[in-house]
Amino acid sequence: MANESRPAERNIGTVAMRWHGHSLELLDQRLLPTEEHWITSEGASGVAQCIRDMVVRGAPAIGISAAYGVALAARHAGGGDWKAEIRQAIRELAESRPTAVNLFWALQRMERVFHECHSLDEAIKRLAAEAQSIHEEDLEANFAMADHALEFMNPDKPISVLTHCNTGALATGGYGTALGVIRRLHEEKLLRSVYADETRPWLQGSRLTAWELSRDGIPVTLNADGAAAAILASGKVKWIVVGADRITANGDVANKIGTYSLAVLARHHKVGFMVVAPSSTVDMSLASGRDIPIEERDGTEVREIRGIPLAPPGVQVFNPVFDVTPASLIDAIVTEKGVIHNPNITGMRALFG
Ligand code: MRU
Repeated sequence: MANESRPAERNIGTVAMRWHGHSLELLDQRLLPTEEHWITSEGASGVAQCIRDMVVRGAPAIGISAAYGVALAARHAGGGDWKAEIRQAIRELAESRPTAVNLFWALQRMERVFHECHSLDEAIKRLAAEAQSIHEEDLEANFAMADHALEFMNPDKPISVLTHCNTGALATGGYGTALGVIRRLHEEKLLRSVYADETRPWLQGSRLTAWELSRDGIPVTLNADGAAAAILASGKVKWIVVGADRITANGDVANKIGTYSLAVLARHHKVGFMVVAPSSTVDMSLASGRDIPIEERDGTEVREIRGIPLAPPGVQVFNPVFDVTPASLIDAIVTEKGVIHNPNITGMRALFG
């Protein structure tokens, strides 16, 4: 069933970033779907700001962008204490967002290479090469995960799935994690339809997922988050497929706020719940989801949309942007290294040591 074509021959979707060696261009995801505007960063500070402000978002894309940010720091280092400049860039990038571990994973990879460099020239070359490797490996991981997921789902006829947030090309090095699985189902003519949760408050589902899928001719039905229960109750959906921002040693998963309630619903309605994420999202240093730092963002994201008030001005808001789904509610975690069925600490250790 698996499509064996090489990555270069496949449609990987609308990319979120373009690397030019001396600068990084990021598609401003805050403006989609109405405007396609690219922001150019020539240094790590610009990239850190783009991550903080959600110009670029999605765990793998954040990690890849940060890696390019370190490469830019080397490229534009003053020549004096270049090591201190790169170290400062790494610190600044690490402070941009707290939950997606891909950010810290990528920065650690960059830091390891940086420590081996004896000159600025060497650092410029090697850090750019490492960032590009991180980018390419992420794309390849997405293809591998789609293969594993399809083998695991093994549908004998076209199915409908529901997804949350955006896990597509925009959130990764290309193709997507959960959205990559959806792309692959479509490629294999095994996809009937995708229900996309709009994903309040930032609307990654309506603004990004519905846009990505429509662009690529993949049938998508947008639904308000609150409609998910009724959709599952109708029996139309076989699998909920989502991404992750951090997976802990016991298989707990932090992902976009609202994921946990979907997992509860899935169990109630006997619908499969699958998490698709590369190994760069796995954090074996944390015992459980309770240890994951959950980002809270400004209340204006809930109170307004693009300056239009949706609530009384100044009303108190609780805006955690991720939640934790316990491993016990997850049927499968799919990574490029393989699938963990009914995840727990033993399954996680078998794959990740
Ligand atoms: O706040 P965001 O848009 O960065 O959150 C993104 C998500 O929660 C995604 O589901 C996750 O990062 C996986 S992206 C492949």
